Amino acid sequence: MDRFRSLVLCAALAVGSAAAVFPAGKGDADKGKEVFQPCAVCHFPDSEDKKMGPGLKGLFKRDKMANGKKLTEGNVRNQIDEGGKGMPSYKDMLTDGEKDDLIAYLKTL
Ligand code: HEC
Repeated sequence: MDRFRSLVLCAALAVGSAAAVFPAGKGDADKGKEVFQPCAVCHFPDSEDKKMGPGLKGLFKRDKMANGKKLTEGNVRNQIDEGGKGMPSYKDMLTDGEKDDLIAYLKTL
C-alpha cells in the first residue's frame, strides 16, 4: 500500500513538473533554491538563528546536527526524508532529483 502510494505520488510529480526531465543524480543548486521555498517557512537560509527549526546558514560547515547526529550528507537526507521534532517528512513529497537539488543548494548556504 505504501509503496503503491509513493509510486502514484512520484508519477503525479513527474507529470506535474517539467524539472523531472532533468536527469536525476546530479543536484542543481538553482533548482534546489526553489525546492527550498516551503522549507523557508521554518528555516532561515541566510542566518543561524532559529525560526521553527535551526537556521541553515553554513549547515555543511557544522560538525553536528540539532538532533546530535554527525553532520553528513546522508544524515541531512535522512532528516529531510523522516522529519521529526516538528519537521514534516518529505520522503513522498519530493522526488529523488528534487532532493539532490535541495542538497546541492544547502551546500551553498
Ligand atoms: C514545520 C516546520 C519545518 C519545515 C516546513 C521544515 N523543517 Fe527542517 N526542521 C524543523 C525543526 C523543528 C528541526 C529541528 C529537529 C531537531 O531538533 O531534531 C528541523 C531540522 C532540519 C535540519 C537539520 C538542521 C540541523 O542543524 O540539525 C535540516 C537540514 C532541515 N530541517 C531541512 C529542511 C528542509 C530542506 C525542509 C524543506 C524540504 C525543511 N527542513 C522543512 C522544522 C521544519
